[in-house]
Amino acid sequence: MKTRITELLGIEHPIIQGGMHFVGLAEMAAAVSNAGGLGIITGLTQGTPEKLSAEIARCQAMTDKPFGVNLTFLPSVTPPDYPGLVQAIVDSGVKVVETAGNNPAKWLPQLKEADIKVIHKCTSVRHSMKAQDIGCDAVSVDGFECGGHPGEDDVTNFVLLPRAADALDIPFVASGGQADARSLVASLAMGADGINMGTRFIATKEAPVHDNVKQALVAASELDTRLVMRPLRNTERVLNNPAVGRLLEKERELGADLKFEDIIGEVAGVYPKVMQDGDMDAGAWSCGMVAGLIYDVPTVAELINRIMAEADQIISERLAGFAA
Ligand SMILES: Cc1cc2nc3c(=O)[nH]c(=O)nc-3n(C[C@H](O)[C@H](O)[C@H](O)COP(=O)(O)O)c2cc1C
Repeated sequence: MKTRITELLGIEHPIIQGGMHFVGLAEMAAAVSNAGGLGIITGLTQGTPEKLSAEIARCQAMTDKPFGVNLTFLPSVTPPDYPGLVQAIVDSGVKVVETAGNNPAKWLPQLKEADIKVIHKCTSVRHSMKAQDIGCDAVSVDGFECGGHPGEDDVTNFVLLPRAADALDIPFVASGGQADARSLVASLAMGADGINMGTRFIATKEAPVHDNVKQALVAASELDTRLVMRPLRNTERVLNNPAVGRLLEKERELGADLKFEDIIGEVAGVYPKVMQDGDMDAGAWSCGMVAGLIYDVPTVAELINRIMAEADQIISERLAGFAA
């Protein structure tokens, strides 16, 4: 399938794997890129420029297809070495960067100079238009359903995507709640040029995470996510578990007085415990409502090929049947 996104990124299928902390390692990114999508290594999981360079090199050894690196700019007690991480990306020869969180304007000149395509992930039309204005090449439009940080506007993709299509000239992909061929075809119908999936890619054979995580996603329904950190205006959609229950109880008790320090036990240092050790109750970890649409753990190629084959079928059979 050809769309503005496949053309822009030089990929076969309009499917991107969004950056995911402690999931977006070389194995994940290479598997998605080898299957014809765009895999993405998560920069902050590596933490230092040296480790990021090594992870990119590992991925380059596993695929000769394009892949990207995610740089997330979020408020942090000890900010990472962003200049060093950007330089490591430029020096590595990687040609796609997914930015998220704060406005990436500061880093664009250096990235554009190196001929790197920048996809900014946003949760609102307002921020998408800003990304277009500052020179991003594409946007990933993340609806309220998404795993991770949906922002504070709570607009779901059925409204957000057509609004983005009306407002944007640059290509965009639909992110949040994307799981299968129906998601892809619906997103294309609403004006998107492809999809970005997070949660769905975790439940694949190649995802470099503990099997407990994959099984938890298969077992979860669309009712099993919760929003945490809303009082801090840093809302995150996570899979419910006892630690999330404790966190929400603290939010209720402390109300507007809640500070990050109050919930540090439930949110700090959680990812390695969940993703590597399989300790599912270690704390709050991102998960989308789309968990309700995850029924199996295929290989990445099986997942992507299934999406593309079924999308073709939906378009040429089901939808064609409705055309007058
Ligand atoms: C476990 C997990 C970790 C994530 N970590 C990051 C991250 O570090 N940076 C980022 O920009 N997005 C992160 N995301 C968001 C994804 O890139 C993507 O935007 C989101 O998962 C899309 O929604 P979906 O889960 O419904 O597919 C994460 C998502 C999950 C599920």
